[in-house]
Amino acid sequence: MSCLPLKRFKSRRMTLPPESDSARDTTVSSATDHDRSWYIKPMFDFWQSLLAALERIIMLPSLIHSVFTSLPSRKRTRDAVRTYDRTMDDLLREVQRLLEGPLEPAQLMHMSGRLQEQFTPKLQASDICMLPSYNDKLPTGLECGTFLALDVGGSTFRVAVVELTGKQPGAKSMRIVTMKSYKIDNSVRYLRGTAFFDWMAEKIETAIADPQVKKINGSKNFPMGLAWSFPVEQTSIRSGNLLAMGKGFRATEGTLGQDLSELIMAPCRKRNLPVHMDSIINDSSATLLSRAYEDPSTRFAVILGTGFNIAVHLPVSALATTKYKGYPQKWLDEASHVLVNTELSMFGKNVFPTTRWDEQLNETHVRPDFQPFEHMISGRYLGEVVRLIIVEAVRTAGLFSGEMPEKLSELYSLDTGTLAAMEMDESKTLTNATALFQSKHPLSKPPSYNDIQFIRQVSQLVSHRAAAFLAAGIHSLWNLRTTSEGLTPATAGRLAIGCNGSVIEKYPLFRELCQSHLDELTIASGAEPKSISLEVAVESAIFGAAVAVCCLES
Ligand code: GLC
Repeated sequence: MSCLPLKRFKSRRMTLPPESDSARDTTVSSATDHDRSWYIKPMFDFWQSLLAALERIIMLPSLIHSVFTSLPSRKRTRDAVRTYDRTMDDLLREVQRLLEGPLEPAQLMHMSGRLQEQFTPKLQASDICMLPSYNDKLPTGLECGTFLALDVGGSTFRVAVVELTGKQPGAKSMRIVTMKSYKIDNSVRYLRGTAFFDWMAEKIETAIADPQVKKINGSKNFPMGLAWSFPVEQTSIRSGNLLAMGKGFRATEGTLGQDLSELIMAPCRKRNLPVHMDSIINDSSATLLSRAYEDPSTRFAVILGTGFNIAVHLPVSALATTKYKGYPQKWLDEASHVLVNTELSMFGKNVFPTTRWDEQLNETHVRPDFQPFEHMISGRYLGEVVRLIIVEAVRTAGLFSGEMPEKLSELYSLDTGTLAAMEMDESKTLTNATALFQSKHPLSKPPSYNDIQFIRQVSQLVSHRAAAFLAAGIHSLWNLRTTSEGLTPATAGRLAIGCNGSVIEKYPLFRELCQSHLDELTIASGAEPKSISLEVAVESAIFGAAVAVCCLES
């Protein structure tokens, strides 16, 4: 089953017109009616550009006159007809070559190996990645209790009462009793230093003022767990030093390096809130704990939404002893394993082949090169890479007859969610995809079928590349875990990976494609088929925050 999406994807290559005539003959014979639009498209393009040029001449006679009077008449005619440097098919072929070219198993395997080389020094010393936690054991799935769970994500802050009931036949073992969600827009994102934590305390106060929450807790203090979607240097199970936050947040201004627990608890105390911080954990580790609560074979968690990260359960010895500075002797004596926040988004510079669009993205980024892996695969950037290709296509290949859609020349104006929805429209007419694009980025006349098909093909290529690179990243960490456990790929056994985030959960075919590449890579390394399975872990950050507290008590 898992190879099917990959086969389907690979067959997409055949939908593009080949460059040479002889190659075209072979492909035409296997093309469907639907696919055939690609072969007659160059002709359409020619007529389209001719019409567009004529239209401009009719509509803007004075402009044409003033521009063209100084040109010799033959050049004038040629320029009016040949408006663009190349056809959309030519550009699409290039996009395909650049994005799909590096996805062969041997190349992905090479990337996985290079990533592993980058891990080595960071497992020895780094304050910003390969961060150990104080969580050594995974949950048994029998732990019970009711907790206040906080989840600070890139665009929402959620406060929930979570009930864990352990394994009970026919019943769910985790339940959100009540949850309040608060949007983090730029006005919140830009709150500096303690102002951000005051805002958090205010929202916690509102959430627990709910009569339903009051009824659950009575007059007791609420045990509270936090899932934090940013790096944190843990100093105990319930505390950690604030590290630089990405995603445009300014809360670290004047607070960098301070204790995150205290930053949240101080304004909570000021408001007399009946809460105490029992656990702080990165959102990727929370996902791992929450999935492990339900499936004991879980050893990894992937977060892939706006941001990207992977957590992994490793033997303590996989990290240098200097990484455990300040850990209590008891912990060091007893722990065999440790939950590690890899901050994998920071790896991958000079590993993944980049295109001119990736380079443009990096050059205009507020923190160029800080999270190269995230730039290639996360929801914040997939839309931006596609946007850069579209802008080039409008300017050089006559996409939308050369008209730039509204807002599309602004950075980050093309939402990855829009592309996901456009990919979902598999109808012959692409009516929904066309209407959606036109509603988000209006043009003077609706985009043509070919324009929309071009965007769909480009986003399929960009998202496929992301899924394949993610597979290479997972494979590299799987290798790291296998060797540090003293195992071989053949003896590593089956393990599950909890997956959370809009891209990996919802982007069409994303998880399936990633799984297919992962299967290819693990089998090529000598593992049994289906050794790793990517499992969706719904609401895992909020559940994981509660599981982390629950594990303390058992
Ligand atoms: C970012 C953060 C990381 C977080 C991830 C997913 O990459 O650096 O800490 O886990 O996004 O939210």
